[in-house]
Amino acid sequence: MNTKTIKHNKSKQCKNHKVRQTSQRASTHVVKEDRVIPENVVIETVFGCNAKCIMCPIEMPTKRQKGVMPSVLFKRVIDELAPYYQQIDQIDLFGVGEPLLDKGLPDKVKYDKENGFQDVGLATNADLLEKGTAYKLFEAGLDTIMISIDGITAEVHEGIRVNTSFERVIKNVKKALALRDEYGYQTKFVIRFIRQSNNRHQWSGFKEYWTPLITKTKGDLIIGYNIHSWGGEIEVQKGPSYKPIPGHVACHHLFDRIIILRNGTIPLCCADMHHAHYALGNVKNGSLMEIYNNSMMNEIRKRHQAGNRLDLDICADCTVLESERNKDVI
Ligand SMILES: C[S@@+](CC[C@H](N)C(=O)[O-])C[C@H]1O[C@@H](n2cnc3c(N)ncnc32)[C@H](O)[C@@H]1O
Ligand code: SF4
Repeated sequence: MNTKTIKHNKSKQCKNHKVRQTSQRASTHVVKEDRVIPENVVIETVFGCNAKCIMCPIEMPTKRQKGVMPSVLFKRVIDELAPYYQQIDQIDLFGVGEPLLDKGLPDKVKYDKENGFQDVGLATNADLLEKGTAYKLFEAGLDTIMISIDGITAEVHEGIRVNTSFERVIKNVKKALALRDEYGYQTKFVIRFIRQSNNRHQWSGFKEYWTPLITKTKGDLIIGYNIHSWGGEIEVQKGPSYKPIPGHVACHHLFDRIIILRNGTIPLCCADMHHAHYALGNVKNGSLMEIYNNSMMNEIRKRHQAGNRLDLDICADCTVLESERNKDVI
């Protein structure tokens, strides 16, 4: 097999998904037999949510249908990815939606682990993270659980994470941490705060609150990440200190991440997840790696590499790279 690693102008990793320790490693992307192989795979196991967070597009109208990814489709995706398990650093089982709504999630985690993937993770609002659910996910071999909490008071958290209970979330997370510690599971906890105008003042208190509760030697982290615009769908207050990334910088996500939506559609990137306006294809109709390396995708990659990132409307309106640059990892 002809595998080479090409140096690529990669900043810190993207917003929602690549928040783990591997995100700090050397800037490269992998090409195998002239195809770009993603390091990070995002599988939207559920499109739909129990919450209505104010910075999330989930409640905005879209032609996409809500629902859970059928396990047959999920397995088909994993079977296609299995030959690349050594190149793939992470599999993330969430997109726009709450993965814990899927009762089949532990089986999906287990299937990934049986196929050799090294870091299988998910992000959750933790409102449904009861002890039994945490137990099933740990038993299935979940490597990383990202917990989204956006405040240190009920008023602030619930004002952002509408329909969740701050008290329940905190209780669930503490119980899940205790379970992990008591039985020696290896799952890492990433406690993640999306900084926005309503909660920015609580970020330093958030770090103080969570630092004694996590265990850094087990790989746990606290992450602060600035709100991004979902490709222009959400209004982001930029403020006087906001510095845009120049248009000649290519976006590394076109090279290091593939996203598979819950019905098999492959959108351009994370900013395109909600609508899939720039869909590259659907895994039900073709090979996943061929779709990820099709003429449309390669043309967009070339435009970015030629210094014309801002030519595409979605890229011009996207603030993911700026959010990544300001990410804090503690
Ligand atoms: C879309 S959610 C899906 C997983 C799960 N429902 C959750 O909230 O963690 C994935 C991550 O995106 C984050 N997120 C949502 N809207 C965002 C925005 N506008 N900017 C940055 N992160 C955002 C959430 O806080 C969460 O950490
Ligand atoms: S919990 Fe996650 S998916 Fe649900 S509305 Fe909030 S950010 Fe969006």
